[in-house]
Amino acid sequence: MNLLIMGRPGAGKGTQAEYIKEYYKVLHISTGDMFRKAIADGTKLGLEAKSYMDKGALVPDSVTIGVVRERLSCADVKEQGFLLDGFPRTLEQAEALTEILKDNNLKLDAVLDVNVDVDVITKRMVGRRVCKECKKTYNIVFDKSIKDKCPSCGGDLYQRTDDNEETVVNRLNVYEKQTAPVLNYYAKQNILKTVNGDQSVDKVFSDIKSVLGE
Ligand code: AP5
Ligand code: MG
Ligand code: ZN
Repeated sequence: MNLLIMGRPGAGKGTQAEYIKEYYKVLHISTGDMFRKAIADGTKLGLEAKSYMDKGALVPDSVTIGVVRERLSCADVKEQGFLLDGFPRTLEQAEALTEILKDNNLKLDAVLDVNVDVDVITKRMVGRRVCKECKKTYNIVFDKSIKDKCPSCGGDLYQRTDDNEETVVNRLNVYEKQTAPVLNYYAKQNILKTVNGDQSVDKVFSDIKSVLGE
């Protein structure tokens, strides 16, 4: 199965991706995670991406499309199937993805749109904490038991540098202008499945399973 997961920043794409990859045994490919890894590794790509990410702007299409093309051309993608998270975010990326899939003989089965209103988003973002070790995501606003260690592996929790209020506002604006039109691109292909993301994590996942077929 080959899937996309879309939705506003903070809609819960990464959270749901953890469940989807376990359940459907697909590879989770997140452009945001790839850029954050490049930053942590101090590569040239990381250095370039950081300047855009810190402002809440998009990394240029020319860079991002190249990264995705390289990843989707690896053999494990064809063997296992994938869940692409955070790409495409512009119409140009969506058109490039169509080309990349064609070149690799791959087909999209569904595009999930996790729909959450803007007001809910801001609370989620500023409360988000991520484990340095296992990368699991938590929220200190919604779960008061979360402190500075990961309950799952004991690793240190950190706050993403783009999770401050000012950058979040920019990211949401960028989403409305550049990414929202991509939903229509897939609606026209009849593969867009919208789920209500403003429910418990478990309920969102059970809705995803029902739209994908268990
Ligand atoms: P990226 O990493 O993709 O970030 P994003 O799209 O802004 O989305 P997030 O990861 O912030 O949110 P999420 O939907 O995964 O939510 P999460 O599950 O963590 O991109 C970051 C940057 O990289 C971009 O700004 C850009 O600069 C660059 N970039 C990446 N891809 C690019 C591309 N294709 N082109 C150009 N540039 C690109 O959940 C959020 C919080 O809410 C967590 O605390 C979580 O615990 C909580 N939560 C989740 N679900 C629920 C629920 N159901 N109820 C209550 N709380 C919940
Ligand atoms: Mg994410
Ligand atoms: Zn952890």
